[in-house]
Amino acid sequence: MEEQRGWNDILKNAPDNEPDRQRYFMIKCRELIERRKREIGRDLTFYDQTFGCQMNFKDSEKLNGILEEIGYVKADSEEADFVYYNTCTVRENANIRVYGRLGTLKTFKKKNPEMIIAMCGCMMQEPEEVEKVRNTFRFVDVVFGTHNIYKLAELLYRALYTRERVFDIWEKAEEIIEDLPSDRKISFKAGVNIMFGCDNFCSYCIVPYVRGRERSRRPEDIVAEVKKLAAEGVKEIMLLGQNVNSYGKKFQEPISFAQLLRMVEKVDGIERIRFMTSHPKDLSDELIQVMAESGKICRHLHLPVQSGSDRILKKMNRHYTKDQYLTLVEKLRKAVPDLSLTTDIIVGFPGETEEDIQETIDVVRKARYDSAFTFIYSKRSGTPAARMEENNPDEVIHERFDRVLQEVNRVAREQNQKMQGETGYVLVESIDEKDETMVTGRLSNNNVVHFKGDTSLIGQIVPVVLEEAKGFYYIGRLKDA
Ligand code: 5AD
Ligand code: SF4
Repeated sequence: MEEQRGWNDILKNAPDNEPDRQRYFMIKCRELIERRKREIGRDLTFYDQTFGCQMNFKDSEKLNGILEEIGYVKADSEEADFVYYNTCTVRENANIRVYGRLGTLKTFKKKNPEMIIAMCGCMMQEPEEVEKVRNTFRFVDVVFGTHNIYKLAELLYRALYTRERVFDIWEKAEEIIEDLPSDRKISFKAGVNIMFGCDNFCSYCIVPYVRGRERSRRPEDIVAEVKKLAAEGVKEIMLLGQNVNSYGKKFQEPISFAQLLRMVEKVDGIERIRFMTSHPKDLSDELIQVMAESGKICRHLHLPVQSGSDRILKKMNRHYTKDQYLTLVEKLRKAVPDLSLTTDIIVGFPGETEEDIQETIDVVRKARYDSAFTFIYSKRSGTPAARMEENNPDEVIHERFDRVLQEVNRVAREQNQKMQGETGYVLVESIDEKDETMVTGRLSNNNVVHFKGDTSLIGQIVPVVLEEAKGFYYIGRLKDA
């Protein structure tokens, strides 16, 4: 219990307020890591395995930023000294993948007993999953959830210092902590959180339970971050939130998402602005107008429809009908003619019938999506839909899923020919994976383009003639080349 006494002394000296407290623990961690590096004569390494959505990837950038700050070096495999899994639980198969992979870590830990293994993210906000890790995966040392990722340095220090397992999961989110490190993978593109959590409670969705209530970051903090990113050379930002259209509604002096966009647009150096995700019920005319007028907001909108059947939409608690959704799409297309529209669709919701699926296929045809993520409904315990009666055999659901997917692909292929022969501006992202004499980038509408070019183009926005539509991407030619 010597360690425990020492640990209590450390706690006494730690500042109470954040982010000072975490800065203190980062320094403490760095001291430990430095000492250990000298003892073993090599760097200490870390590796992350991130599952799920852009929110999780953004969280991992923050966790990696903290790890780099305290002296860990990024490894290129899971054979590292600190490995964390940032988990997703939106569908059942995400959980299965996590546990499947976790087993391999045990063998690495046998070879390297100093290895620390952590689990965090959405799955760890579910008490039954935490118990499973606690009892079945005893080689996992640190467990935390979605609300306290900023505390990584403190939790890690505790694990390193006391050599005990550390479990710290908060049921509810507290204040938003600003000004902690973050490590970005790409120099010219960045995600920026504008809000956390979700209040919509779609009946199938576990997100409101694991990510908590909606909380918006203050506009001045967001703009300051965007300015900093611009100064670092970032050209494209993605504003992130589960439901960006309800940004700022809870402030004492409310501000709309459209107003926030106008503020962010003014930041010099930022050339492209994307955002994710929009809920159709909250998408305002003001936002459509800002999009139509903007030279920076990208011509792409992800507008999840989930289903085309009014009956199912009601059971899903989505608060719109098929007609309302399609009217919104029409309005958007009129105001922003070159808009590319993408969506999410769930097939196999409890009680879904053939007529319901026909309605969904009809929406795909009428909305003319450029692409769509189609998911098979996955029952998440604790959600209202989990208590609804399921009446469809798996084969029926799979057959319907295939039909929806076919229609999605047919429409998407047509949509992705629209710009053939035109010139589009491409932000070049990387060398083409299949042909190293070519580069790959994206148009404002998010379409992928491959064309002849070299590394000097990466990070630049250049005009490209879109010579050939290939179904889901274009082959182009650099203009004037
Ligand atoms: N089953 C299947 N798909 C789901 N999604 C959310 N919850 C579930 C679930 N229980 C899908 C929705 C959402 C996307 C991020 O994941 O389509 O828009
Ligand atoms: Fe889930 Fe609905 Fe919130 Fe999206 S809007 S995160 S689907 S509850």
